[in-house]
Amino acid sequence: MTGWTALIVSPSDNCGIDVPVLGAGWNVIHANSIHQAQEVVRQGHCMAALLDCTGGVTSADLALMERMLPQPHVGWVVAARTMELEDPRLRRLILDYCVDYVQVPFSCDEVAYSLRHAYGMARLRAYEPPSPLESGPMLGRSDVMKRLLRTIGKVARNNAPVFIFGESGVGKELAAQSIHHMSRRRDKPFIAINCGAIPPNLIQSELFGYERGAFTGANQRKIGWIEQANHGTLFLDEIGDLPLESQVSLLRFLQQGTITRLGGHESIELDIRIISATHVDVGAAQREGLFRSDLYHRLCVLTLEIPPLRERSEDILLLAENVLRQHQGEAQRKIRGFSACAMRAMMSYSWPGNVRELINRVRRAIVMSEGRTLTAADLQLVDHSASDPITLEGARQQAERNIIRQVIARNGNHVCPAARELNVSRVTLYRLMQKHGIRADDRLESIEKYLP
Ligand SMILES: Nc1ncnc2c1ncn2[C@@H]1O[C@H](COP(=O)(O)OP(=O)(O)OP(=O)(O)O)[C@@H](O)[C@H]1O
Ligand SMILES: [Mg+2]
Repeated sequence: MTGWTALIVSPSDNCGIDVPVLGAGWNVIHANSIHQAQEVVRQGHCMAALLDCTGGVTSADLALMERMLPQPHVGWVVAARTMELEDPRLRRLILDYCVDYVQVPFSCDEVAYSLRHAYGMARLRAYEPPSPLESGPMLGRSDVMKRLLRTIGKVARNNAPVFIFGESGVGKELAAQSIHHMSRRRDKPFIAINCGAIPPNLIQSELFGYERGAFTGANQRKIGWIEQANHGTLFLDEIGDLPLESQVSLLRFLQQGTITRLGGHESIELDIRIISATHVDVGAAQREGLFRSDLYHRLCVLTLEIPPLRERSEDILLLAENVLRQHQGEAQRKIRGFSACAMRAMMSYSWPGNVRELINRVRRAIVMSEGRTLTAADLQLVDHSASDPITLEGARQQAERNIIRQVIARNGNHVCPAARELNVSRVTLYRLMQKHGIRADDRLESIEKYLP
């Protein structure tokens, strides 16, 4: 598609706008519903859009518009009658997100003028690096998260490889997506690969693709993940699990900027931004000879460390309320919020599974709850502060329980390194875990076997 593209969203199909009046060089895409328009916007196909509300807007339409209009890469114009403009929600949307609005009766020239203006404004905005506030779904009000969001904004302007560290469930993939969406590559592909989930014998062909006849069963050419990410971002999750053979090929790609498909001879030049992530200690993997240091240094030009949730307690309630808002609809009745005991329990819990665990607990609570507010019991958490009077011994036990959980999670649920970090023997740590009822995961199935 060449030229400028305008999207005309006319759910009622009565906008009566004479498209040719937009003039030469314009392509016009029609959408008959806001759902359709959302898809066009998501694919980045247009920079100017007219939203025709002259047939009336329902509350469901407004809810969809509230999600669609905040896209910074589109300049929006609304067409409405006085009747629609009386709706405060629509007025708020126009004031917050639209470049202009036209009111019935309007002329086609007026619409064309506003759309050209909206297009110009969207282009101007595209030159600006997005502000950290536009980092999308990544929420956080703690100082450490605000700093992280600012760093993401800066990193997004750059093209250098990024390495993201953080425990499981802290938001590494979300951070990678935010970097992509805030970068100039946002309209190009974001390809995420979990290096630990692809069988080692397939990873080379999945990453680099292959030519027909490259091996038995290669009946046709396959474009690999790296090539699919051309001009966009490649997110290599759990990079620590990448087999050594693929590490060599990846290093060659990072050094030369080209790949060769398996069984092929052609060297293909690619322009890709690489983001990698891991929740394991890559330093240890390097020392054990499982991860190449030269590759690590290539990937680790810019680094982001996402702190665990327990170290940013100001974010806990914000995230929990956000999950409740998003999943309200799954409840049997309208839920008003969290009870005081639920809030206390969430604040004192150590969240070994981080944000993912929080989402799961709140969603389960929404479904299981029988009251109007979610309680600590609905979240399957214990509100120690409510049931026990605070004694020094109680506080000591709580601190011991929390620190053991944190250190075990930080060490990828491995007990031996956790025991080393805590400066206790493995047997002592197992005994303490048993005392506090801590079961990190399946790797700890045989606690008893180590106990005297
Ligand atoms: N700051 C945040 N604001 C809102 N949602 C978040 C935030 N951080 C994480 N999430 C959500 O938490 C879930 C887990 O995040 P994500 O998959 O990015 O974590 P991860 O670090 O990649 O986890 P893993 O190591 O297990 O792959 C996702 O649903 C994500 O959208
Ligand atoms: Mg992940």
